[in-house]
Amino acid sequence: MNNNSELLTTPFSSHASAAEVIEGVDLAGRRAIVTGGASGLGLETVRALAAAGADVTIATRRPASAEPFIKEMSDIGGSVRAAALDLADPASVDAFTRAWRGPLDILVANAGILALPNLTLTPYGWEAQLATNYLGHFALAVGLHPALRDAGSARVVVVSSGAHRGEPFDFDDPHFARRPYDPWAAYGQSKTAGILFTVGARRWTSDGITANAVNPGYILTRLQRHVPDDTMRALGVMDDDGNLKPLPYYKTPEQGAATSVLAAASPLLKGVTGRYFEDNQEAPTLHGDEDRPDGVAAHAVDPDSADRLWTYATTALRQIRG
Ligand SMILES: NC(=O)c1ccc[n+]([C@@H]2O[C@H](COP(=O)([O-])OP(=O)(O)OC[C@H]3O[C@@H](n4cnc5c(N)ncnc54)[C@H](OP(=O)(O)O)[C@@H]3O)[C@@H](O)[C@H]2O)c1
Repeated sequence: MNNNSELLTTPFSSHASAAEVIEGVDLAGRRAIVTGGASGLGLETVRALAAAGADVTIATRRPASAEPFIKEMSDIGGSVRAAALDLADPASVDAFTRAWRGPLDILVANAGILALPNLTLTPYGWEAQLATNYLGHFALAVGLHPALRDAGSARVVVVSSGAHRGEPFDFDDPHFARRPYDPWAAYGQSKTAGILFTVGARRWTSDGITANAVNPGYILTRLQRHVPDDTMRALGVMDDDGNLKPLPYYKTPEQGAATSVLAAASPLLKGVTGRYFEDNQEAPTLHGDEDRPDGVAAHAVDPDSADRLWTYATTALRQIRG
C-alpha cells in the first residue's frame, strides 16, 4: 500500500494522449504484448508503443480483425502482429505462452468484458468476467514469467477500473454460486482482483519485474455493448435516438490509453511497482470515509489479500489442469 503523502506525480494532465506521455521515449528493441489490442484502449496502447519503436504483439480472440490496423502501422514502419488468445479458455492461454519465444519487456493486461447481463459461467464454472479479466490474465502473466524475467526490467500493466472501489474480492463465493448475480459486482470484483495481482507480483521484484494497475477513466468503446440502453441513457451518455454522446469529462481512446502507456514505458515509473494510477498520476489509497471520485480502495491493495488471491488463482488453475 502506498503512503498517501508520497504519491508519484507526473507533468501530464488527465486528458493527455498516449503519444504525449511517452514522447521522446525510444522503445527500439523492446517487445510488448497487449491483450485486447485490436480495439478501443488496447489499440491506442499498441499504436503508441509501436510508434515509439516497440515490437508489439496484439493478443486477441480475433486476429483477423487486427489486420487493417497492422497494415496501417506497418505502412508507417511499425512492427505489430496479432496472435490468437482467448483469456476465458486456459488451454488457449497455455498455447499462447508455450508459443512465446524470447524475452518480454512489456505485458499490458488490457482485455476485458463488462457487465454481462446474466450469470455466465465458463466450462470450468468460472464467472465469465472473473475468468476473462482476472484469471486468464493471471495464467498469462505466470506463463510468461520466464520471458518477463529474461527481459531484466520488464513491466506488467493491469488495466483496472474505478468500478473496483465498491467490490472487495469475495473469497467465499467468487463465482456467484450462493449470492445473487450482479453484473456490476462481478465486473468490480474482477477489477479488484487485477489490482491485487500487481501487489502480489512483489514476489517478482527480484527478477526485475514491476507491475502496476491503472484506471483509464471513462471512454465510450465496445466495452459498454452489454449495458442496457436505459442504463446508458440514465448515465447521460445516450440520447433518445440511441446515439452515444460522451460527457464532458469523458476521454477519447487516445487519452484513455495514456495511463497504460505511461505505466508501460515512461522513465518516470522506472522501478515503481504495486501502485495504482489514474489520470496519469498515482492515486491515493482510500479507507472508506473519503468523499471523492478517484483513488484506490484499501481492499484492492491489501498485501494479505493479494497473497491469498495469488494462492486462490494458482490452485484454481492447478485444479483444471489436473
Ligand atoms: N472504456 C472505459 O470507459 C473503461 C473504463 C475503465 C476500465 N476499462 C477497461 O479498459 C480495458 C479495455 O476496454 P475498452 O474500453 O478498450 O473496450 P473494448 O474495445 O471492448 O476492448 C476490450 C478488448 O478485450 C478483448 N477481449 C474480450 N474478451 C476476451 C477474451 N476472452 N480473450 C481475449 N481478449 C478478449 C476484446 O477483443 P476481442 O473481442 O477481439 O477478443 C477487446 O479488444 C478493459 O479491461 C476495460 O475493463 C475501460
